[in-house]
This record gives sequence, C-alpha cells and structure tokens, in this order.
Amino acid sequence: MDLSFAIEPVYIATIFFFIVGLQRMSHPLTARSGIVWAGAAMLIATLVTFFTTGLSNLVLIAIAIVIGGGFGYIAAKRVAMTNMPQMIALYNGMGGGAAACISAVALLATHSMVTGGIAVVGGLIGAVSFAGSIIAFFKLQGWMPSRPITFPGQQIVNMAIFLLTVISGVLIVLQPAAIPISAAVVLPLFFILSFLFGILMTLPIGGADMPVVISMYNAFTGLAVALDGFSFAPPNYAMIIAGVIVGAAGSLLTLQMAKAMNRSLGNVFFGAFGATDTDGGQVKGSMKAIETDDVAVLLAYADTVIIAPGYGMAVAQAQQKVKELTDLLENKGISVKFAIHPVAGRMPGHMNVLLAEAGVSYDRLFDRDEINPEFPATDVVLVIGANDTVNPAAHRQGSPLFGMPILDVEQAKNVIVLKRGQGRGFAGIENDLFYRDNTRMLYGDAQETVGRLIQSLKKL
Ligand code: TAP
Repeated sequence: MDLSFAIEPVYIATIFFFIVGLQRMSHPLTARSGIVWAGAAMLIATLVTFFTTGLSNLVLIAIAIVIGGGFGYIAAKRVAMTNMPQMIALYNGMGGGAAACISAVALLATHSMVTGGIAVVGGLIGAVSFAGSIIAFFKLQGWMPSRPITFPGQQIVNMAIFLLTVISGVLIVLQPAAIPISAAVVLPLFFILSFLFGILMTLPIGGADMPVVISMYNAFTGLAVALDGFSFAPPNYAMIIAGVIVGAAGSLLTLQMAKAMNRSLGNVFFGAFGATDTDGGQVKGSMKAIETDDVAVLLAYADTVIIAPGYGMAVAQAQQKVKELTDLLENKGISVKFAIHPVAGRMPGHMNVLLAEAGVSYDRLFDRDEINPEFPATDVVLVIGANDTVNPAAHRQGSPLFGMPILDVEQAKNVIVLKRGQGRGFAGIENDLFYRDNTRMLYGDAQETVGRLIQSLKKL
C-alpha cells in the first residue's frame, strides 16, 4: 500500500513535537519530559521515512538501526553522569558524520550547481563537526592531553587546509562540466581535507573551553542536517526544520557558554587557552588543613552559609548528603544559599540537575551575578569539589584563566574547601584560593566528609 502521502503531514506533526520538547528542556523540572517528546518525534520521523516511495536497501537500513540503536541504548544506560559531556561529544560527532555521508550520497547522484553547492557546504560542516567532536571526546575522556596542542605555523597550516578544502568543494560543484579531474578523486579528497580541518581546528583548544566547542559543533551538526534536507528532491522538511532548530539552539547555547566564560568565539578557537603557565601566577603561603569538628563549630556559629558546589560533588555523588547538611543548618536558623557557576561540573546545568535530584529547591540556587555581591558579608563558604570556578587567578592578568568570571568566594569571612587532596581543576591550573589566610582545607571524598560534618553538627 502506498502511504507516501502521509509522510509530509507526519513530518509537520513531528516538528511540533520537537518544538514542545525543546521548550520543555529549557527548565530542569520539565527537561526529562522534553527529552521524551523530542525522542518520540525522532522515532516517528524515522518510522514514517520507511514509507518513502522507491526506498531500497531496507534490510541494510534495519541492520544499521539495530546496531546503532543498540550501541546507543547500552552506552547511555552505562555512562556515568560525570562522563556525559564526552558521550554528548561522541553522539554529536556521529550526527555530523551521518550528515557528511548524506552529502556524499547527494554529490554522487546527479546534482545541479545549487543542490551540489548546498551538499558541499553541508558535507564540509558535517565532516568538521564529526572530526572536531571526536577530538573533543578524546580530550574529555583523557585519551589525549586536554591542554591546547600547538605547533609553529599552525594557523597558516589550518588556513591552507581550509583553502584546499574550499577549492576541492568548488571542483565538485562544477563537475562534470569542464574540470579534468574525476569525481572519484575529488570527492574523497574533499572529505579527507574537511575531516583534517576539523581535527586541526580543535587540537589547539584547551580542555576548559570544551563545553563551548561541543555546543558549537552541535550547532554545526544541526546546520549540516538542515542543508542536507535541501539537497533532496523534493526537500526533506523534517530534516530542514529539525536541523534549523538544533542549529539555532546550539548557536544560542554556544554564545551563552562563551559569555559565561567571558570569552569571544575567536578567542576560544584561536587563543590556545591554557597554553601558558599553569602555576596560578604568584601562589604564596601554604595550604592549611582543618578538622571536621572545627568546621562544624564554625558552621554552628554562622548566620550565613553559601555552598559552592563543583565537579567533585558530582564525582563523590555527595548531593544527598549536601541536602541533609543544608536542612540541618536551616533547622538551626542559619541561612544557606547555593552559588551555581554556569560551567561548574562537566555539562551545562550539571549542578542544578544533581541538586534538584537531591530535593534542593530552586529558590536556593543563585547564579554568579546574583550571589557574588553577597560573599563579603558571608560567614562561611563551603566549596564542595569546585576548583576552576572559584579560582581568583581569573582576576589576575597573565593567568591562563584571566577574564573567566568566577564565584568570588575568597571574599567571604571563612572559606572551607572540601576536596580529596592537592588535585588541580579541569584547566590544570594551581588555585591560589587554597593558600589564602581565610581558607582552610577539609580533605577527603566529599560524600564522606559531608557525612562526617553532619555527625559532628548533630553532636553539638
Ligand atoms: P574542577 O575545576 O573540575 O575541579 C574539581 C575538583 O574536585 C578537583 O580539584 C578535585 O580535587 C575535586 N574532586 C574530585 N573528586 C572529588 C571527590 N570525590 N570529593 C571531593 N573533591 C573531589 O571543578 P569546577 O570548579 O566544577 O570547574 C569545572 C571545570 O570543568 C571548568 O574548568 C569548566 O570549564 C570545565 N568543564 C565544564 C563543563 C560544563 S559545561 N560544566 C564541561 C567540560 C569541562 P582533588 O582531586 O584534590 O579531590
């Protein structure tokens, strides 16, 4: 039975689902259902595509879906929350790679200058997103150094590769007309160059900028998919609109993340952030340890406490204990607020999700701009597994972190830092907060330490 007439209306309906999904993802409380809406839309759009007239290789498509879907399902079930960014980078890269493959198929078929041009641009963006995301995955997974990888003349080499990519793309668009080079040579060359450009473009970007990079490649993938949608005859509207939505959402997220890091995109891509010194500048003095009982006393006599959580809280899965501690302090009449840095942890909203999971209400969470003026009047700040996001080196010219907006916890009367030892933050830079006179180090795994703190407080 020919059901191809149903494809377009169903695509339009799925677009509505995508938009509802995206809208719901904008708030942590509704985000889970947003994922379900968008996932359902993707499933329906995929199923309905099987009714396309003349679709062949159905068995191969089914095998690919089972392998890809099976791998995705198992990996998503197993991945630790703290490894989410690498997984997102990997899946995003797969999207870019798939878009590049669609472009290649479109270019192998007969094409006009217009559809050929669109497919070439889509292929370039998709291949760059694929290669760049894989490098981001390697850096985040620790399979290659997260520091910027640079070499003399890098930007000239990058420009040359880009130029060659553009030239080979133009040759493809002009094929077969007057160009004496066969498509069998130019097409693979174009994709190899695009792939290489994606790698070279990402190597000099340091680990701390990876969130910005991943969301930008996410936007790239969306754009590549949208362009591929145009290269079909008739155009595939589901791909165009879904791609545009991903491209627009990814671009907005990229700009917001770059703003949160106080970095321009040009600076992220060409600044080789973190390539310079890693000693935090002029670190003076020594780290001073404190015992749990002494912190409990300090907290018991405080009027105001601010908790600044970071990646270490996620590693330790300390959020439930942190909530317990918060309740205990509040029952003693102490004001407790949470200072949330936009890139604390390893993914946007990481701290918000963990704290929401533990039942900390949203009106307790304050972003950097709201909370920074409150630090000077705060009795105790508990830094729980945060490092880069509270590093005052960011205020000092010459520091690799210079310019990154941070939580100004060092201005509080007392700062207690909970961490396991002398480990550095994600950017690999020494933190002079730990050496300040008003800072004390409470060593140990955050979950155990907060647990001990609760016990000590209960005894008081
Ligand atoms: P980080 O700078 O990553 O520092 C985390 C600290 O937690 C480490 O110094 C570590 O010290 C400590 N820690 C680790 N495991 C612990 C445990 N079990 N118990 C207690 N402490 C533990 O954290 P941050 O301040 O949240 O900064 C985030 C960084 O990640 C930024 O540089 C950001 O750019 C980057 N990044 C963010 C994202 C997003 S979107 N959020 C994505 C990728 C990268 P010890 O080893 O001494 O314990």
